[in-house]
Amino acid sequence: MPTAQEIYEQSLSGVYMPEHWAALAPLVDEINTLKRAKNAIILAHNYMTPDIFYGVADVVGDSLALAQKAAATDADIIVQAGVHFMAETSKLLCPDKTVLIPDLEAGCSLAASITADDVALIREKYPGAAVVTYVNTSAAVKAASDYCCTSGNALKIVESIPHEEIIFLPDAYLADFVAGKTAKTIRAWKGTCEVHERFTPADITKFRADFPGVVVLAHPECPPEVLAEVDYTGSTAQMQAYVERERPARVVLLTECSMSDNIAAANPDIEMVRTCQLCPHMKRITLPKILRSLKEGVHEVTIPDGVAVAARRAVQRMLELS
Ligand code: 13P
Ligand code: SF4
Repeated sequence: MPTAQEIYEQSLSGVYMPEHWAALAPLVDEINTLKRAKNAIILAHNYMTPDIFYGVADVVGDSLALAQKAAATDADIIVQAGVHFMAETSKLLCPDKTVLIPDLEAGCSLAASITADDVALIREKYPGAAVVTYVNTSAAVKAASDYCCTSGNALKIVESIPHEEIIFLPDAYLADFVAGKTAKTIRAWKGTCEVHERFTPADITKFRADFPGVVVLAHPECPPEVLAEVDYTGSTAQMQAYVERERPARVVLLTECSMSDNIAAANPDIEMVRTCQLCPHMKRITLPKILRSLKEGVHEVTIPDGVAVAARRAVQRMLELS
């Protein structure tokens, strides 16, 4: 494992002033030493700040990649640098491992928008439909569902299952995005992401006027009138892959802003136009909290067996279809 100083020189000298890194470096070194001593692994979502993303993460990616890597790890402890539903997904896939979330309040507006009782009610309304649930939900909601999906594989999951009618929960905009690409009937819920719902078509008009030639990418949690105006729509990992493959001279990502910082650090030749939209839940995860998590074993994520069995089935079906 490289030292904090080596990580700085390799990836972060364009992101942090030396004085700022001098304050972060001892935390990075202590976390990396402790991680090895405890056979722990840090799974970090693409929205983590660069000090976490480049400094201490063992695996980085979108929700799908993090779930796939969690399922494959032989570490004893997983520290989830992301939000609570991601830690629950890791626990579902690794029931015998200790899964820690550094801040229990790291939630998600989509996960908070629906309960298992809501799923039962909507099932009654459409009895022949399959329930496909976005990974941004609680374990209890997954347990009430047939299949799980992420933004990276939502269309693939919907297309792969035999049902012609799908209850797609809880993101109304992701449901609309999928409905536009499949012949199947999609029944949506009314949840939204509090970060992506803020983008508007007027933002795009302004980006294109202020930054001529800018390529506009968006996450499918954005409203449909926004997605209608962009050059490409994809999950966080798919947007990153697009940037690294197409190498636009100038690009803006309509998504959480730390992701642009992380891509910029690895691609200094690409001009990343920043949107300054931050997810308040993701931003609860910090280096000091990760260090405490490792030192004190907090906060351990547990899922009652009655919920875990059914929720795991929905997630595993997704991984098989992916
Ligand atoms: P991804 O699976 O695309 O990384 O999205 C997760 C998320 O929470 C987006 O807001
Ligand atoms: Fe949830 Fe939106 Fe934050 Fe993603 S960005 S974790 S969907 S609130």
